[in-house]
Amino acid sequence: MPVINFLLDSEKIEFTCDSGTNLMEAVVEAGIELKAVCGGAGSCGKCQVIVKEGEVNQLAQGSLSPDKLKQGYVLACQTEVIEDVRIEIPPESRLSEHQIFVAEEAEDEELLTEKEIQIAEKIELDPLYKRVDLELDEPTLVNNASDLDRLYTGLNQRHDWPGLTTSLSVMEDLASHLRDNNWQTQVSLALANDNYEVSELNAPDYEQPDYGIAVDIGTTTMVLELINLETGESVATSGLYNKQGRYGDDVIGRINYAKQNDDGLDKLHQAVIDTINELIDDVVNKESIDYADIKTAVFAGNTTMSHLFLGIDPNNIRLEPYIPTVNFIPPLQAEELGIKIKEEGWIHYLPGVSSFVGGDITSGVLATEIGKREEITLFIDIGTNGELVLGNQDWLITCSCSAGPAFEGGGIEYGMRAMSGAIEFFEIDEDTYEIKYSTINARPPIGVCGSGLIKLIATLNEVGIINRSGKFESDFEHERLREREYETEFVLVWEEQAGIDEDIVITENDIKNLLRSKGAIYAGIRMMLQNMSLTEDFIEEVLVAGGFGNYINIDDAKKIGLLPDLPNDKFKFVGNTSLKGAKMSLLSKEKFDQVNEIANKMTYLELSAEDQSQEFMDEFVSAQFIPHTDLSLFPSVTETNSDD
Ligand code: FES
Repeated sequence: MPVINFLLDSEKIEFTCDSGTNLMEAVVEAGIELKAVCGGAGSCGKCQVIVKEGEVNQLAQGSLSPDKLKQGYVLACQTEVIEDVRIEIPPESRLSEHQIFVAEEAEDEELLTEKEIQIAEKIELDPLYKRVDLELDEPTLVNNASDLDRLYTGLNQRHDWPGLTTSLSVMEDLASHLRDNNWQTQVSLALANDNYEVSELNAPDYEQPDYGIAVDIGTTTMVLELINLETGESVATSGLYNKQGRYGDDVIGRINYAKQNDDGLDKLHQAVIDTINELIDDVVNKESIDYADIKTAVFAGNTTMSHLFLGIDPNNIRLEPYIPTVNFIPPLQAEELGIKIKEEGWIHYLPGVSSFVGGDITSGVLATEIGKREEITLFIDIGTNGELVLGNQDWLITCSCSAGPAFEGGGIEYGMRAMSGAIEFFEIDEDTYEIKYSTINARPPIGVCGSGLIKLIATLNEVGIINRSGKFESDFEHERLREREYETEFVLVWEEQAGIDEDIVITENDIKNLLRSKGAIYAGIRMMLQNMSLTEDFIEEVLVAGGFGNYINIDDAKKIGLLPDLPNDKFKFVGNTSLKGAKMSLLSKEKFDQVNEIANKMTYLELSAEDQSQEFMDEFVSAQFIPHTDLSLFPSVTETNSDD
């Protein structure tokens, strides 16, 4: 059997496999996280590794340049292992450990940083799992109710708990527990299906705190917060890449993977459960608590994530008329799903609205309280699905404009997520075309993240390197601009300064993809406004959610036509509202009920429906210019450009 030696920076991993094993599968089995934007279809070119020693069987070479082929680069997903090999995994092909960004202290008013957040976090504590102290009357020949009835009566004297239920394990111990503790007890009540369940009995002096977890299941990254349910305090946070990334970068890629592979759905389901359990391991170790001390959990994620989390076939999500199996998910017990908290602990998944507007968005609406305000607010999630919500206390309309993963680095040759070594800021000298940039954690650059890409497009246009349709200006000449195969590209960082062994470039095709993404978002905003017969002036506040960088430069986002041309003080960056809403729901039954009301209240606008699609297409085409074909929509941008 062939032995593979994987080389990662200073680490070596040895792995034995059968002859003919797909190299990508071997990488995954060996526990190495590799980028696989297309889910192994051979089209994204992100899974590049270098064969240092030994022969492999290459099924396809994709768009690997002749230069790279000479150096031994192969696409892992298109390669079979037939003999002993040494394989180097270059850093740019790896999904390095996810970092949770803390917004930098930026003094600049043009930057949207998360410190401006104004989320209603002050909630009245009424968690989905709580303890009640009880002192019961001792039974007599006259007062001869059963132990369980006695317990229910005691509970109902304190508070009205309609539909109380009790687990078998509690009933088994009930008689001796009450007698051993002299009819004094601490009863733990867990929210199950709209009613409470007596889930534990403890001695009156029991003091170990109860914990809950709030989890945001993002397509790309997952974040978990461990919360003390008595105090409401967040005691530990942990974040990781969603391990499903190895089967495709976006939801459609993963749905296809589940469809095309016999065990695809199982693998995707297991990957998300494994990621969650790893996050749980992390916080349990950090706080030295027991898994069983975590009593309940609230999850938020998009509709595809909810289906894969449950292990339900997501295929209909992507087929017309786009019907999910479930929007309102009944609570399930941790054991059923293999989540490593208290085995009978209840798992709640926040409700979705449609196939492309899920629990992460209803959670965001809860956290930002858009549905309680008088003023009209626009909520934008700049991610692959590009979900948008517009409304106020009277109405809420939502759509998903399929922005694509460009601002998260997908489909962009040197695009990447916001992590160490990602360029997040550019400056180009108008005369010399000298480029200054800064990277996350000040590491040598290996690619460009979302905030860097916004800045880059705005700057390239401003200094006259690209025109309003995103094409390189025909009369622009400089050594940085060059032809390669069928493409024109512009060098951002020369190899000598880069953290990888090649120049970092932006191609005309990359720019087209970015303009398509930003065009989709802007067109979605216009469609919602038109459906409500409103104009942009009616928008009182714009809340931008999403985790693609430390900050967004609002002026740049307006310059390229990603965000509407409204005064800067109307914008707020609200960060990960999916996680915030999940936490609020965990700590407050009232908020938990509200998110269900929100999901019921939101009207979903299907942009591909017959009566909308032509109009959306028109809007989309017009929005693929910098900033737009209709310059009157961007008066402030046009003003500053007037001397062009
Ligand atoms: S080319 Fe291998 S995962 Fe996309």
